[in-house]
Amino acid sequence: MSASFRAPVGTHDVLAPQSALWEGLIATFADFAYRYGFTLALTPMFEEIGVFNRGIGEHSDVATKEMYVFQDRGERTYALRPEGTASVVRAFVQHQPTTPYKAWYVTPAFRYERPQAGRYRQHHQLGVEAIGSDDPALDVEVITLAWRFYQALGLTRIRLLLNSMGHVECRARYVAVLRAHLEEHRSQLCDEHATTWSQNPLRVLDCKRDACIGVINDGPLLPDFLCADCAAHFAAVRSALSDLGIDSTLEPRLVRGFDYYTRTTFEFVADALGNAQNAIGGGGRYDGLSEQLGGKPVGGVGFGSGIERLLLAREAEGLTGNLINRTIDIFVVDTTGDDVATVLVDDLRARGYAVERGFDGRSMKSQMKVADRSGAALALLVGPQEVAADEITIRELRSDDFDRAQLRVARDELWTVLRERLNK
Ligand code: HAM
Repeated sequence: MSASFRAPVGTHDVLAPQSALWEGLIATFADFAYRYGFTLALTPMFEEIGVFNRGIGEHSDVATKEMYVFQDRGERTYALRPEGTASVVRAFVQHQPTTPYKAWYVTPAFRYERPQAGRYRQHHQLGVEAIGSDDPALDVEVITLAWRFYQALGLTRIRLLLNSMGHVECRARYVAVLRAHLEEHRSQLCDEHATTWSQNPLRVLDCKRDACIGVINDGPLLPDFLCADCAAHFAAVRSALSDLGIDSTLEPRLVRGFDYYTRTTFEFVADALGNAQNAIGGGGRYDGLSEQLGGKPVGGVGFGSGIERLLLAREAEGLTGNLINRTIDIFVVDTTGDDVATVLVDDLRARGYAVERGFDGRSMKSQMKVADRSGAALALLVGPQEVAADEITIRELRSDDFDRAQLRVARDELWTVLRERLNK
């Protein structure tokens, strides 16, 4: 007996009907991105490992513990993309498009995490990056796009958490003070951070354990260390968001998992989801990233949102409807055995209808069963009798009204009847 294979641990197959929800989400996002002036960017699924090490930081958790690293046959060391930003910035540096360069993407991302609900080894992100400008209006545009997109998905229980990391110098000043605070209280930190706090003190801010939370709550706060420029930038972002009616909560302890962040950082939290996987999106500025990847010192800002988490959040809010229509209009049942159905189906599809048909010369009864299951509104029946009379039988598949349920029409009246019945 041959072994049966399954999708790798922490990954999943997405098949119908769930895949239609994905299609709806991606199409809605693509439409938003277009309206906000972002163009699609496709970059390779793997990059030289340096792109990620230099981009997200070689000491970040993702780089040290979670990246899928491999050597190809030419002994080059690559990594599967753990996130979308570093690749887009690498492409920006390589191709030097005019600025601000505004790109959107939909991509799988790979992280060797401990799989659980809402946390996978391959997840999928919708995201945007706007590169080549320091303007706070661009931060606002990125955050607004995300917010309006979540609204369009019907999500209502979403909170926007906002912070500013300042630029490199503000952060260095803060880290020095934080380091001193952690050193003083190191015996009170959780087991993990009692030993690792000095490597990257900012990581302690992100710790969910009570011990660290206690120490951090009494400690220094990042926004108090911003220089005048960074403070003004942050104030501009906050005031524009408030003018737009987008509520945000200042979260001075919000640090994100990658080292590239500067100034504005944000996270969208879905209150309908459990704590471990309630971040449905996050992002921020990364003003040093282009230079770190060999480009000019230009600013950038973006966000990424997990498709799986967005769908979980919709489900948790009881939103079951699809955002895109993917139901079949017509199912063609054919018992003639020749090409009548093939020609009819081609004609119907050319006129814009979504059409499925029976295959394998099955009996009328068996084809009707498939038609019923297909979700189509109408079945068109073509058998020898219909062909001889140049007619077609139309059967309503979803109607309770018996009189409307079945009628036979002349072939040349078909289009009028379909328009009336299907409203299209
Ligand atoms: P991130 O916060 O690591 O940021 O990921 C973005 C979103 O992807 C998260 O908010 C979450 O919804 C989803 N996500 C992350 N990891 C997983 C996982 N293991 N399983 C399921 N969903 C997950 C970034 O990746 C940055 N590149 C965002 C960004 C863009 N910053 C600036 N531009």
